Amino acid sequence: MSFSSIAYPENQAARYELILEQVRALTDGIDHPIANLANTAALLWQGMSDINWCGFYLMDKGALMLGPFCGLPACIRIPLGRGVCGTAAQQDAIQRVYDVHDFPGHIACDSASNSEIVIPIHLGERVIGVLDIDSPLIGRFNETDQEKLLELVHHLENCCDFAQTGYTLK
Ligand code: SME
Repeated sequence: MSFSSIAYPENQAARYELILEQVRALTDGIDHPIANLANTAALLWQGMSDINWCGFYLMDKGALMLGPFCGLPACIRIPLGRGVCGTAAQQDAIQRVYDVHDFPGHIACDSASNSEIVIPIHLGERVIGVLDIDSPLIGRFNETDQEKLLELVHHLENCCDFAQTGYTLK
């Protein structure tokens, strides 16, 4: 198998369709979560414009622990309720933050970040992690981003056997 960078469509929905198609192809027949989350982070990193971090945190021993990602090294452990990620996980609610500087308790891993979207990942009813994407642009993420990234997360929830992570997931 070999991959090279490709030109992604300018149109936002078409771009997501291609990313989703690539994620589905790369995860086909693979249920290992770390492998699938790592490839998904790489595809988002290649396919999305104007982002400076994308990746996953997974629940471990009662907090969010850093998982596969692309971008600068990031904070390793985020307690539930802390920052954008901890808020999304604790409230089981997507956080689409127009300007992170207006979000109380935002954790700045990369000072270039100005907006952020965080989507909870579930195992059954339980939140076991989050997808987190940061952008240097204020207001980078719109409703289409939210809708398509949620579709992506639903795919990962379905195709990954999260018991294989090595994280406690609670
Ligand atoms: N900004 C996040 C922390 C994680 S980094 O963005 C990678 C937060 O406030 O939870």
